[in-house]
Amino acid sequence: EADILSKLPLKGKKVLVTAGPTYEAIDPVRFIGNHSSGKMGFDIANELAMNGAEVTLVSGPTHLSTSNTSINLVRVRSAQDMYDVCHQYFEKVDVAIAAAAVADYRPKNIASQKIKKNEATFVIELEKTKDILASLGEKKKNQFLIGFALETENEIEHAKLKIQKKNLDLIVLNSLNDKGAGFGHATNKVTFIDSNGNIEPMDLKSKEEVASDIVNKIIQHFNA
Ligand code: CTP
Ligand code: CA
Repeated sequence: EADILSKLPLKGKKVLVTAGPTYEAIDPVRFIGNHSSGKMGFDIANELAMNGAEVTLVSGPTHLSTSNTSINLVRVRSAQDMYDVCHQYFEKVDVAIAAAAVADYRPKNIASQKIKKNEATFVIELEKTKDILASLGEKKKNQFLIGFALETENEIEHAKLKIQKKNLDLIVLNSLNDKGAGFGHATNKVTFIDSNGNIEPMDLKSKEEVASDIVNKIIQHFNA
C-alpha cells in the first residue's frame, strides 16, 4: 500500500489553495461579503490530496469542511487575513491556486461600535484590498501559479491581461455566458489560458470535474 501511495503523481508536492469569499467588517456586527460557496477551492484541494499532494487550504467563511488529513485547512475572514496566511506558506509551496472570491474593496474605517440608524442616507467609504494573487506573482520563484478570472466582456483579452499583470502560469477563465455556469451553480464552463497564449475551451462540467482538469494541468506541468 505504501508503494501505491508513493507513486501518486503529486507525491511530495506542496500546494497552496485559496477558497471562499472574504468578509470585510463595517462595524462589530456587519460586513461586506459575497455569495461564493467555497466549493471550487475545496474540490481542488480534495483532488490535489487524492493525487498525493500536501495541501494548505486557506478559506474565507464557508459551511464546507474537510476530513482529509492531507489538507491543512486554515480558516480566515478578511482579505488581509487571507493575504497574511498565504504569504506565510507561499515560499514553501510548489504550486499556488487562487480560487477565492476576494473582496476588491473594504470599508476604509471600521466603526468600533454598532452603527446607529441616525441618518436618512448613509455612505460607506471603501478602499482597495491587497491583490493576494498579484502579490504572490511578484514573490514567485519556481512556483506554478494559477489564478481564476471572472469576466463578462472581452473575456479572453481581459484574462490574458490578468496573466501578465499577476505573473501567472495559467488562468482559469469562468464564463457566465452559458446558463447554469459559475457562482451558485453546480457546473462551470471554463477556458484554460496559459502564459504562452494557448487557449483551451472546456465543456460545461461539474465543479469536481473542473477541479480534476486543473489538477491534471498541474500534473502535466511537473511531467513536462
Ligand atoms: N484575487 C486575489 N486577491 C484579490 C482579488 C483577486 O487573490 N484582492 C485573485 C482571485 O482569487 C482570482 C484572481 O485574483 O484568482 C482574479 O480575480 P478577479 O476578481 O477575476 O479579478 P481582479 O484582479 O479582482 O479584477 P476585477 O475584479 O477588476 O476584474
Ligand atoms: Ca475582483
